[in-house]
Amino acid sequence: MAVKLAVIYYSTYGTNHRMAEIAADAAKAVGAEVRLLKAPETAPEAVVAGQDAWMAHAERTAHVAHVSAADMEWADAYLFSAPTRFGVMASQMRAFIDTLGGVWAKGGLSNKAVSAMSSAQNAHGGQETTLLSFYATIMHWGGIVVAPGFTDPSIFKVGGNPYGYSHTQGAEFTDDVKIAIGHQARRLVDVAAKLTR
Ligand SMILES: Cc1cc2nc3c(=O)[nH]c(=O)nc-3n(C[C@H](O)[C@H](O)[C@H](O)COP(=O)(O)O)c2cc1C
Repeated sequence: MAVKLAVIYYSTYGTNHRMAEIAADAAKAVGAEVRLLKAPETAPEAVVAGQDAWMAHAERTAHVAHVSAADMEWADAYLFSAPTRFGVMASQMRAFIDTLGGVWAKGGLSNKAVSAMSSAQNAHGGQETTLLSFYATIMHWGGIVVAPGFTDPSIFKVGGNPYGYSHTQGAEFTDDVKIAIGHQARRLVDVAAKLTR
């Protein structure tokens, strides 16, 4: 049976959306059943409309489905991607996570393979701490953290973050970036397959 993977992202300007798409494509290529889902926007409409780049990205991705508790129950594995906000994940992602008490209480989040990605303006602007902010929550769920570590040469070529791929603003989405994200997604699918067989 194919691994069911939910790739769950939040993105204001498009970086994490792009990362999520690359991961989803890589997971599909190895046979996973993938849902690409976004955490709902929580910023007031006037704030979004007040920034052209924010509004443009919201309009570009209006067709992407919002993630739900039902998606969380459906999936065997989760791959999260969210920007760094003052050293932790963006509050839009946190707000979604904080709706999951009910599904958590009935065991719907436990024993899933989970990995996370992030982006930040600065290389040392909190990329690792944001990823750790995901993994602390995953431990509360009884999830199986599947950080990439240094399990592929591509990780050394794109910043060397063993907690998960993280993108520094202004960097290109090179082939090495795509390989590193693809490696993280495929490794997550591999581990999920072992957990679900
Ligand atoms: C409120 C706010 C807080 C931020 N905090 C940080 C930070 O602590 N460190 C950092 O390097 N970048 C920070 N950034 C920059 C974001 O991480 C960057 O805009 C984001 O990674 C872009 O991802 P996106 O294109 O998916 O929205 C912050 C941005 C905003 C708007």
